[in-house]
Amino acid sequence: MPRPPSHCRIRTAIGRRCRKGGAIVQNFLDLSRRLAQKLAKLNVETPWGSFTTMHIAMIGSGYVGLVSGACLADFGHTVTCIDKDAAKIEALNNGRIPIFEPGLETLVSTNVKAGRLTFTTELAEPVAKADVVFIAVGTPSRRGDGHADLSYVHGAAREIANAVNGFTVVVTKSTVPVGTGDEVERIIRETNPAADVAVVSNPEFLREGAAINDFKRPDRIVVGIEDERARPVMNEVYRPLYLNQAPMLFTERRTSELIKYAANGFLAMKITFINEIADLCEKVGANVQDVARGIGLDNRIGGKFLHAGPGYGGSCFPKDTLALVKTAQDYDSPMQLIETTVRINDTRKRAMARKVVRAVGGDVRGKTIAILGLTFKPNTDDMREAPSISIIRALQDGGAKIRAFDPEGVEQARTELTDVAYCADAYDAAKNADALVIVTEWDAFRALDFERLKATMAAPVFVDLRNIYRPEEVTRYGFSYDSIGRRG
Ligand SMILES: NC(=O)c1ccc[n+]([C@@H]2O[C@H](COP(=O)([O-])OP(=O)(O)OC[C@H]3O[C@@H](n4cnc5c(N)ncnc54)[C@H](O)[C@@H]3O)[C@@H](O)[C@H]2O)c1
Repeated sequence: MPRPPSHCRIRTAIGRRCRKGGAIVQNFLDLSRRLAQKLAKLNVETPWGSFTTMHIAMIGSGYVGLVSGACLADFGHTVTCIDKDAAKIEALNNGRIPIFEPGLETLVSTNVKAGRLTFTTELAEPVAKADVVFIAVGTPSRRGDGHADLSYVHGAAREIANAVNGFTVVVTKSTVPVGTGDEVERIIRETNPAADVAVVSNPEFLREGAAINDFKRPDRIVVGIEDERARPVMNEVYRPLYLNQAPMLFTERRTSELIKYAANGFLAMKITFINEIADLCEKVGANVQDVARGIGLDNRIGGKFLHAGPGYGGSCFPKDTLALVKTAQDYDSPMQLIETTVRINDTRKRAMARKVVRAVGGDVRGKTIAILGLTFKPNTDDMREAPSISIIRALQDGGAKIRAFDPEGVEQARTELTDVAYCADAYDAAKNADALVIVTEWDAFRALDFERLKATMAAPVFVDLRNIYRPEEVTRYGFSYDSIGRRG
């Protein structure tokens, strides 16, 4: 059982208020009220057991911060999600969810109504109140060299240093290169030498589209600590999951940071492996789906991440593989497997466009190509590094006109892709098209009406880059059918 926070925590909290001077009585009353609220809310066996809810500040309210914040509030913690993007916070405060993630709207509104979840652009107050501060800001690829851009993380660390009040656990949830925790700690100590913090690494493994389930039922929770005071606090944060027997893996901080990159590097490599096998299947007349099943049933390999397709995209794999390559090079320990994975995946996306060009007879100039699915995967509106971007640009370079439909991604797609006719649905996109291409496997595309498509298209050409149909399901309507790593 995780150790409940002891009376020392209360003494620290009171002491912190005394040090601040002024309004001691008010603060003491406030503290008492908070404790009473906790006692009233929780169904606990002992008075100490009621101390399990915590005050959490979540810095960054994007795909990870918002989901994590809402889930932690749902566990019973009091969470403030903070973001610099005033429009995002305004939307959240007005009950609108700025991203598409299944189940998130209900989870957010339930916890807002229960008074456990709030949103603000101002970091100082929630951080001062917090027992735990999470950093969940972006770490995109740095322009020019592919290293992770840590400016948002470092900026957040400086702001935390100025606001922190009493012993606080600062947790990096963003994906950050090895050694970032050391730097976050250095920045905080340099900015505010009196700050009493334990800096922890707690990488996030959720997948967009299934983020809530992933957060609440994780395969594991990885926590990297250097200061033992953080261990019981992190146990308390994840106590509901711990009771569900989610494995909690405590490691050194640098190890935890590397686990995240090693996991993403391995998964990217696995996808790339099956994509290369798919290419070989096409040459030798084999079926990649059967190969994937044949190897995936081997427990040492496992069947997940063996779906051949147009190459991985998204907000994580491309930037994280690149950052891992850069870190490894910096430490004179190059990761050639990952370097090759990055190179193969980069070229694969445009190769998919060439597949489409072949399907329409070798030239797309003046032809209309209908694209179904723009986001990097289904059930998200995220367009970051989506394969559709490279494929559409390559087709446009060849002179094609693009009509496209995506159930959730059009708003973000408009900022990435110009000269595209965004359509109302699959059939609208298919109007007068010389080929229809499935790029993202949304459920809405899994049972298309082929008679209707054929009637509206200029030519019955179907390219399925996600293998969601069996060839005969499509060819029997008179379509030509191309897919990945299979005949026909
Ligand atoms: N998206 C995923 O599926 C996923 C999964 C696991 C891990 N991660 C990692 O989590 C981190 C966040 O990713 P994301 O997809 O949520 O990014 P995001 O771009 O959706 O959100 C980041 C948010 O942080 C805000 N921000 C930046 N600096 C800030 C500051 N100083 N104060 C307050 N807000 C600030 C931005 O305005 C933005 O809204 C990244 O490191 C990413 O690699 C992402």
